[in-house]
Amino acid sequence: MNRLSVQATVREGAVQENCTLGSWTEVGPWNMLENVTLGDYSYTGPWCIVQNAEIARFANIAAAVRIGPTRHPMDRPTLHHFTYRRVLYGFAETDDDAFFDWRREQVARIGNDTWIGHGAIIMPGVTVGDGAVIGAGAVVTRDIAPYTVAAGVPARPLHPRFPAAIAAALLRIAWWAWDHQTLRARLEDFSLPVEEFIARHDHPGDAP
Ligand SMILES: CC(C)(COP(=O)(O)OP(=O)(O)OC[C@H]1O[C@@H](n2cnc3c(N)ncnc32)[C@H](O)[C@@H]1OP(=O)(O)O)[C@@H](O)C(=O)NCCC(=O)NCCS
Repeated sequence: MNRLSVQATVREGAVQENCTLGSWTEVGPWNMLENVTLGDYSYTGPWCIVQNAEIARFANIAAAVRIGPTRHPMDRPTLHHFTYRRVLYGFAETDDDAFFDWRREQVARIGNDTWIGHGAIIMPGVTVGDGAVIGAGAVVTRDIAPYTVAAGVPARPLHPRFPAAIAAALLRIAWWAWDHQTLRARLEDFSLPVEEFIARHDHPGDAP
């Protein structure tokens, strides 16, 4: 299929549990998604694992990205998951629900118009700001500010994606909130130099 639709496209072998998939979204082949909101137009490449995450609109998530790798309890006598996956081992009739609730609360947030590079890992509870870029192979352990290019293990800012005034204008415009017809009508504007895009759209009274 070479055209997406208002209904999410879920590729071969992808499994999802408790997910909300927006319009024009694409879940790549062999993904595993659990407790995920995937905003409109966002997509994942092949072999991604995403847990306990809120992904905004127009996020570009490359192959083999992991978002929200969950923690084992390091303060218990054992790290092994039998202490919370009790049913699996026939140790109890119920699992340790409080532990699973705690894990679900560590929500990773991926902003609008982000690009997460190949094989990057975004740790639980971390926020990647709007317009930010995460380099291939990064391990993101702290929040990344909007319109920042970050990479490495642990990820550190490399440089701003745009000068501060341009980033601020793009955040004001928040073009990612435009509806499908508006995006279609303004498609050519996205190929303009960013300064011209801002001159055209960053002014009071601009129709959303
Ligand atoms: C992060 C990235 C966007 C940076 O691009 P850039 O802004 O053009 O940066 P540069 O290539 O000029 O590199 C700047 C510095 O960061 C380092 N760097 C670049 N990418 C890096 C990465 N992924 N991890 C660690 N360091 C990285 C470079 O070695 C360079 O260091 P130096 O100044 O000491 O020589 C790019 O390198 C990247 O990782 N892209 C992701 C590609 C990808 O995963 N595509 C998947 C298909 S969508």
